[in-house]
Amino acid sequence: MIDNLDLAKLDQHDPAEMDKLRDAVGRVGFLRISNTGLSADRIGQVLAAYRDFFRQPDEIKQSVDMAATGANRGWGASRSEQVDPDANPDYKQVFDCGFELPSDSPYAGRGLSVYAPNLWPEGAEMFRDTIQSYYSDACAVAMRILRMIAVSLGREAGSFDAAFDTPMALLRGNYYPQRPDWAGENDFGIAAHTDYGCLTLLATDGTPGLEVRMPNGTWQPVEAAPGQFIINFGEMLEFWTGGEVKATEHRVRGGAAERISVPLFFNPSYDTNVAPPGSGTFIRAGEHLTRRFNETYVHLQATT
Ligand SMILES: [Fe+2]
Repeated sequence: MIDNLDLAKLDQHDPAEMDKLRDAVGRVGFLRISNTGLSADRIGQVLAAYRDFFRQPDEIKQSVDMAATGANRGWGASRSEQVDPDANPDYKQVFDCGFELPSDSPYAGRGLSVYAPNLWPEGAEMFRDTIQSYYSDACAVAMRILRMIAVSLGREAGSFDAAFDTPMALLRGNYYPQRPDWAGENDFGIAAHTDYGCLTLLATDGTPGLEVRMPNGTWQPVEAAPGQFIINFGEMLEFWTGGEVKATEHRVRGGAAERISVPLFFNPSYDTNVAPPGSGTFIRAGEHLTRRFNETYVHLQATT
C-alpha cells in the first residue's frame, strides 16, 4: 500500500506520521504527500503552462530541442529518452530545466552539463516565469521532505542541507499522449526504471498511468490529483544511505487519455560524496548523474 502523508504533520514530527514515513522510505519506496503549501490551483497553472507548450507544432518546439545540445535542457521529442536498454525509447515528450548557476558559484566555468543554461522558447515569458517560480518552490518542498526523512533515519533534520546548496535539481514536464496505435509490448510512455538521483517530487493532472513495483512484485497504479504529490527515491539516495532508503521501479504504459506529469528530480551539489557510509570510497554525485544521463538520453548516448 502506498501511504498518504501530511507534510505539515511531518514538520511537527507527529509520531504516527513519522512511522508511516519510515515505512514508506525503507520498504515501499513510494508515498503520497499533501498539505505542502503548493495548492491545486498553483499546480493547475503549471500543468496548463506545459500543456500549452506541448500543443505547439514540433517546428516551434525544435527551437529549443535538447538534441542540438550536449546537455538536457529544453524540449525532448518523443523517443529522445531510453530508460530501459531492453525496451524501445519512450514515446513521451519532455521539457527539462535545471538550476541556474550564479556567476560567482565555484561550479561556474567548469563546463558541467548538469548545470547547463536553461533553454526557453522565444517570446514565452509567461511560460518561463511560471516554470521558474514553481522550480524554486518545489525545491523548497523537496528539501522539507528530505529533512523529515533525515529525522526518520535517526539523523539531525539538517544533515542533508549543506549537500544541497547547489542542487542538480531537474524539473521536467512530461507529455504522455494517448498510447499510440503502433505501440507494441516493448513500447512505453516511460519504460520500467528506478530514478537516478535522490528524491522525486511528482505533480500530475490526476490521469492514471503511473505504475509502481510493490514489495510483493506486482505493479500497482498510483494517482495523485493536483495539490497532492507522489514522492519516490532514486538509486543515489539508496546507496548514499547504505540502503536505508529504497529506490523503487516504476513505469507508464499509457492508455486512452493523454497525461501530463511534472517531476522535480532533487539531487545534491555536484561534488557531494554520496558513497555508502563507512565504505571508504568516494562517489561524486555529479559524475554518477552525468553517467546515467549519458546512458539514457538518446542524443547523449551517441557521444559516449
Ligand atoms: Fe521515474
